[in-house]
Amino acid sequence: MAWISAIAVLLVYLQSLLGALVGSRWALHQCLGSSELCEVMNSHIIGIVPATAATLVVTIMAWRQPALSSNLRKLGNLASVCLIAQLVLGLATFRLHLQVEPLTVAHQAVGAALLGTLVAFSVLAWRDRVLSA
Ligand code: HEM
Repeated sequence: MAWISAIAVLLVYLQSLLGALVGSRWALHQCLGSSELCEVMNSHIIGIVPATAATLVVTIMAWRQPALSSNLRKLGNLASVCLIAQLVLGLATFRLHLQVEPLTVAHQAVGAALLGTLVAFSVLAWRDRVLSA
C-alpha cells in the first residue's frame, strides 16, 4: 500500500511536469498550428495511462483493506475524485484549444490537488507501516 502510493506520487508528479512542459512551451497550439512540439503534447497524453492506473490502484486497494484508517480511506476516495475531474478538465482544455481560461487554470489547480492528496496518502501509509512493524 505504501509502495504503490509512492509510485502513484512519482507518476502523477512526472505527468504534471509533462503538463508544465506543454503549457510553458505552448505545445498544443504549436502542434495544431505547425505540427511542432507534437511529441511534447503526445507524451502528456500517453502519460495519462500510468498516472491514472496507479491512482486507481491506490483507491481500489484502499477500498479492499477493511482495517484501513478512515483518513486513508477518505484520501483514497479523494484521489479518484480529483483524478476524474482532472481527466475531464484536461480533455475539455484540449478540445477547446485553451480558449476557456478557467478550465486551463482549473486543470492546473486540480492537478496540484491530486498530487497533494497522493502525497498525504503516501506519508500516512508509510507512517502506519513503520508503526505496525
Ligand atoms: C492524470 C492526469 C493529468 C495530470 C496530472 C495533468 C497535469 C497537468 C498539469 C499540472 C498541467 C499544467 C501545466 C502548467 O500550466 O503549468 C497540464 C497542462 C495541460 N494538460 Fe494535463 N494533466 C492530466 C491529464 C490531461 C488530459 C486527459 C489532457 C487532454 C487530453 C490534458 C491536456 C493538457 C493540456 C492541453 C495542457 C496545457 C495547458 C496550457 O497550455 O496551459 N491533460 N496538465
